[in-house]
Amino acid sequence: MDLQINDKSMTVKASPDTPLLWVLREELGLVGAKFGCGMGLCGACTVVVDGHATRTCVTPVSAVAGKSITTIEGLSADGGHALQRAWNEMDVPQCGYCQSGQIMTAKALLAQTPSPTDAEIDAAMSNNLCRCGTYLRIRKAVKRAAELNAMSHAMLELREEETSHAS
Ligand code: FES
Ligand code: FES
Repeated sequence: MDLQINDKSMTVKASPDTPLLWVLREELGLVGAKFGCGMGLCGACTVVVDGHATRTCVTPVSAVAGKSITTIEGLSADGGHALQRAWNEMDVPQCGYCQSGQIMTAKALLAQTPSPTDAEIDAAMSNNLCRCGTYLRIRKAVKRAAELNAMSHAMLELREEETSHAS
């Protein structure tokens, strides 16, 4: 089966009903997504599939063939993605186990709602559990990532404007 993961095509041997989480972790060595409950309840295994936060422990690999899958490893290798920077700035993780799932859920939220309110953040993140209770820092980090995204869009527009004036 062919999968599109982090902008790369990958061929996997797993049977179609294998949960995506197993394929990512065991076959492809992408271990950022974590096994928590195995029942779609905690969010530790979340990745983004075609823009939607998706629980890989209950998603058969056959359901994502041909779709665009982004795992935490696909954000950026150097930690420069707005979510990674915001999570660092806010010092969000405690044990860290849930954080990959939190960040990928936040990624899907910001793609749909670039400047979310507290209530929108709480609603989007409410089914991602954190045993360490980092919820307030998560909310702050999502807001910070939204700010960083807005700043980089503004800079991009400014540069485009300067280029068009120069030409
Ligand atoms: S491990 Fe997938 S939702 Fe808990
Ligand atoms: S940081 Fe420990 S479970 Fe969330």
